[in-house]
Amino acid sequence: MAKLTEQEQQARDAKQDMSPTPSLASGNVGLSNAKKAKQDEFYTQYVDIQKEVEAYLEYDPKTFRGKVVYCNCDDPFESNFFKYFAANFNKLALKKLIATSYDGSPIAGQGTLFPEYNEGNGKRQKPKALAVILDHVKDEDGDGAANIDDVKLFLKRNKAARTALKADDRYPGGDFRSADCIALLKQADIVVTNPPFSLFREYITQLVEHGKKLLIIGNTNSITYKEIFRLIKDNRLWLGCTNFNVGMFFEVPAHWQHFHHINQETGRKIARVASSCWYTNLDHGRRHQPLMLMTMAENLKFSKNLRGNAAYDRYDNYDAIEVGTYKEIPSDYDGVMGVPVTFLDKHNPDQFEILGITDRDNNSGVKTKEYSEADAPNFGDLNRRGVIRVGNDYKTTYARLLIRHRRRTRPTRGTKK
Ligand SMILES: C[S@@+](CC[C@H](N)C(=O)[O-])C[C@H]1O[C@@H](n2cnc3c(N)ncnc32)[C@H](O)[C@@H]1O
Repeated sequence: MAKLTEQEQQARDAKQDMSPTPSLASGNVGLSNAKKAKQDEFYTQYVDIQKEVEAYLEYDPKTFRGKVVYCNCDDPFESNFFKYFAANFNKLALKKLIATSYDGSPIAGQGTLFPEYNEGNGKRQKPKALAVILDHVKDEDGDGAANIDDVKLFLKRNKAARTALKADDRYPGGDFRSADCIALLKQADIVVTNPPFSLFREYITQLVEHGKKLLIIGNTNSITYKEIFRLIKDNRLWLGCTNFNVGMFFEVPAHWQHFHHINQETGRKIARVASSCWYTNLDHGRRHQPLMLMTMAENLKFSKNLRGNAAYDRYDNYDAIEVGTYKEIPSDYDGVMGVPVTFLDKHNPDQFEILGITDRDNNSGVKTKEYSEADAPNFGDLNRRGVIRVGNDYKTTYARLLIRHRRRTRPTRGTKK
């Protein structure tokens, strides 16, 4: 039976993206809702940016040294990305910081970084699509320290550091695809932001085409997108340092009714987004830590899910075994293993090779069977899954990464060599 066409696959994604979020009552919000409402109104907290960036510095203190950092899609007047990089300009030894805002942004002009816009009758034209460019941060107010207050003062004194971004014949001002923004992108070494969720594929494709380093927030569901997965498989993109299983908390607009809590310091509403993570192609320490694993025999003896089994389940349609959690990856198995997508959080490219993903399997070389109507009425679904045969029945798994040990290392847990 034929696989899904790309069009069918996209329709399926879109449907998934529109699925209702089960946990609104708890203040958890699926990114899919942002797409549905076309809001894209999730704003990153300062502490999350700080935590993530500092993890790269821990691995290599020179990660940002001498670099041009570009924060696009970012409302420099309000964005914590701009605030973080401006406040840490000297600590990171940046060469330049560029931030751009988007003409269509609902929050542009509301921030407190430039209070002059709220002075007087408050009717002064608020800035919309702008580029803010810093090439140094020094002690402007003479208080002995160079910090965010100096950035505010510098920008007040130097109007040239802010330039208007023009619309072009296709895109509004500040659109990451507009000519002005692409010219700025070309200057950049590292792009760091939380881009609009609804344009994630296009956004990341642009960065890859321009050969940029990136550190951006996205939806975990995007891992399975063809364009994104291909990059992950080829070790050109990976997950950031913050554990993606725990989700992230974002600032949401004041009119949001479903939120998790209010930040006492800023008074802003905060919502939890369970399905969000950092994507990057900057190196970090976690991806070089080998997973400590037990042998197959040890797992069959000691692992909760496997105890009592004579062997790991083998797929009916893949030349691979099913491994339900990364902890149960056998250290001594040389064949292909299907593991949950959450494994990516633990992935060490020196230890494992990624061959494919069951959801989109066009060329893993591991698939052994395509089902037809003669096998089961839901054969289309079976063809997108790892399938385990139980008697005459078929049991399907969630999306599985197809991985294999690289065999340069074989760390084991709990066994003597
Ligand atoms: C998820 S919000 C994140 C904002 C900010 N980067 C942050 O993390 O706080 C995405 C931002 O992208 C802006 N945006 C939407 N479409 C855009 C486009 N085509 N080009 C550039 N920015 C866009 C929105 O206005 C919004 O400010």
